[in-house]
Amino acid sequence: MFERLSRQPDDPLLALIGIFKADPRTDKVDLGVGVYRDEAGHSPIFRAVKAAERLIWESQDSKGYVAPEGDQRFLDLLWSLVGGLKPSVHAAGVQTPGGSGALRLAADLIRQAGTGRIWLGLPSWPNHAGIFAAAGLAIETYPFFDVTSQTILLDSMMEALQRAQPGDAVLIHACCHNPSGAVLTADAWTRITAVIAERGLVPLIDSAYQGFGAGLEGDVAGLRAMIAAVPEALVAVSCSKSFGLYRERTGALYTVAASPATADTARSNLVAIARTSYSMPPDHGSAIVKTILDSPDLRQDWSEELESMRLRLATLRRSFAEALGGRWSNTVAIGVQEGMFSLLPVTPAEVLALREKSGVYMPTSGRINVAGLKLADVARVAGLFKAL
Ligand code: LMR
Repeated sequence: MFERLSRQPDDPLLALIGIFKADPRTDKVDLGVGVYRDEAGHSPIFRAVKAAERLIWESQDSKGYVAPEGDQRFLDLLWSLVGGLKPSVHAAGVQTPGGSGALRLAADLIRQAGTGRIWLGLPSWPNHAGIFAAAGLAIETYPFFDVTSQTILLDSMMEALQRAQPGDAVLIHACCHNPSGAVLTADAWTRITAVIAERGLVPLIDSAYQGFGAGLEGDVAGLRAMIAAVPEALVAVSCSKSFGLYRERTGALYTVAASPATADTARSNLVAIARTSYSMPPDHGSAIVKTILDSPDLRQDWSEELESMRLRLATLRRSFAEALGGRWSNTVAIGVQEGMFSLLPVTPAEVLALREKSGVYMPTSGRINVAGLKLADVARVAGLFKAL
């Protein structure tokens, strides 16, 4: 059997981790994969995560299975953080292996129960298309962001969604758009929500960066307004960035429906899909998140540390945009975009030249992880971009 297989290329984004590590240059700069870094270039473990792990280690007395849907207390606490607790919004969740696991479950459900079609804004996180295609979904695209002008193409997006059929799914980034960092205004959220409601579409909202853009509440304001205004939605949540739990693969998928019974029926289908794939989700990361959100002290400490990360990102953005000094037509936008990413108008050849000559690493799409910059390096790195 194996002789019929050909070698698959490495994932271009994840491959950067290894290539960067192997580079011996001491002044190299990692603007690649979306991991938060501090001024020393380190991806820290949150203080509250360490404290929670200590508590879990001391108190956990069994490694027996938890439940097919995961830990219900974790699911409830995470939902109150993301979805809020509006009594008219009925949600039911399953714990998943990371945000990617949530997206794949959502895609499988859309294939089984929906039209089998999903609308994806361009550009998007490259793995969105990969996950949806692997689940057998037909992918339709809508224009979302123009790199040259650094603006959201809202009118084109509206126009494209007019062609969507009732029951089609639409992928929406909750905040901190990956890869552009572009920010939807409250008015834009209202317009998108209106077209989704009018055409009977089902939003699949990907929430992977809560806390890194406008803050814990601001980052989910659009999401909350949307799920309150449509009869059905899917919300995929990643705890990788917001809790710094990347390798623990911690996430959840929530079904939002017009009644608790419908949300629960949809959830039972997610549980059944998961059973034939990975059976049950890993526990450790969700135990950490539950312990933090259940403890007023740990929750406070976690949200303060997350806020300091958010502020560091905002400072880095402003300094970088200033140091670029009008290198591109709308360089200033990079300073006010949100989250870890911005998409620079550079060619793949320029990206590779920067990598080879100067040790600056980023994917050939031109996306940068702003958190990979150090304040001390901003002027030098901006100088390298200006010299392109
Ligand atoms: C990213 O976009 O860099 C992250 O979401 C990591 C990943 O899995 O691609």
